[in-house]
Amino acid sequence: MPVVGTFPTIRSEIAGVSVLELAKQFGTPSYIYDAASIVERINDLKQFDVIRFAQKACSNIAILDLCRQNGVVVDAVSGGEIHRAMKAGFKPGNVEHPEIVYTADIFDREALEMVVKLGIPVNCGSPDMIDQLGEKAPGSNITLRINPGFGHGHSQKTNTGGEQSKHGIWHEQLDDCLQRADRGNIAVTGIHMHIGSGTDLHHLSQVCGAMEKVVETVGRSVKTISAGGGLPIPYNTKQSYVDLDQYYQLWDASRKKLEAKLGHKLTLEIEPGRYLVAESGYLLSEIRAVKQMGNNTFYLLDAGFNNLARPILYGSYHPMSIAPANGSTSRPEVDVVVGGPLCESGDIFTQEEGGFVCTRKLPQANIGDYLILERAGAYGFVMASNYNSKPLAAEVLIKNGKPHLVRARQSHEDITRGEVIPA
Ligand code: LLP
Repeated sequence: MPVVGTFPTIRSEIAGVSVLELAKQFGTPSYIYDAASIVERINDLKQFDVIRFAQKACSNIAILDLCRQNGVVVDAVSGGEIHRAMKAGFKPGNVEHPEIVYTADIFDREALEMVVKLGIPVNCGSPDMIDQLGEKAPGSNITLRINPGFGHGHSQKTNTGGEQSKHGIWHEQLDDCLQRADRGNIAVTGIHMHIGSGTDLHHLSQVCGAMEKVVETVGRSVKTISAGGGLPIPYNTKQSYVDLDQYYQLWDASRKKLEAKLGHKLTLEIEPGRYLVAESGYLLSEIRAVKQMGNNTFYLLDAGFNNLARPILYGSYHPMSIAPANGSTSRPEVDVVVGGPLCESGDIFTQEEGGFVCTRKLPQANIGDYLILERAGAYGFVMASNYNSKPLAAEVLIKNGKPHLVRARQSHEDITRGEVIPA
């Protein structure tokens, strides 16, 4: 299991490459990913039979390719994610060992067409999906995503279980779903549960009990159980990793119990998003203004919530470090508020859930110094927007000590492409 470690507030390099070099070569704001960190996190989970990356966390095709090269398969929540997965070399249509699974609570019309045409197995998060698939593709195998009636997340917005959540099939509707599957000549070959992101071992272990009950009800058609995603990572020194051995053993014990009851082997999947990529990612920005508002000192960056939305959405804490442009390795620390360039008061990276602005102790910095938002690899770039007509940042992957541009910064022309003034 990885150790929480320290969070340096001065940084001169990322994955062995000088921050100043990265800024010079790729500009700011840019997302920088460390391939070695992703491979390490993949290896932590090798006890599971299948590691299915929840690509919604970070879906650049270079990252997907890295996962594929290291034995990881993917889920997809949209036609776009199916397209990305295939671009990265994942093959649809392997029924026994699906490389791509469509997991969602609805089929939009495009996604339904794509899964049927490509033969992509579906993890159904709503009873209606079973009927829709039954109509178009009788004879399909499906997984059911069950909402066990409870959930847990790092914020209410990332809790995906219980009756206030829209996700999954309500556990008491299982019989109805099995009848729907029968009517559509659909086989239920797997059960999946994901109760939320950044949850703890206690809640995760409750899922095992719920899983056992559901699989016993469904019976011998079940070949796969999925522990879902939600493995937390520490974003600050007060948080920790879950004990992965303990976590695996809980799941393995449930699996063995069920295997004894069903009389056949079960495949045990895990579906992490952030665990694989959060720590690999750094949002590199330049400080463009340092100003005083009464007692508060503000560092204003060229990156905003258009680049990293987590602080404004969930009050998420991201470690921050400064790379001084003059290469100095020590600076006195000061209390600062860190904000972005957007015309919106909430564009503040140092805030708590509910939008309360707070300060952070960071090295004293000047215009032209770089500020790095760390542990930003999961739900960072993928949740970016063009608000204020800001181009999406560049993405850079550092592999074997060499940085590679894996997505070019958007141009202004890219942003207006497709817009038309009517005659
Ligand atoms: N599986 C399913 C079905 C999911 O819906 C998710 C996350 C995962 C796996 C992966 O969860 P993870 O291991 O990454 O926690 N934007 C939020 C997180 C939303 C997660 C949505 N679903 C954030 O920045 O924290």
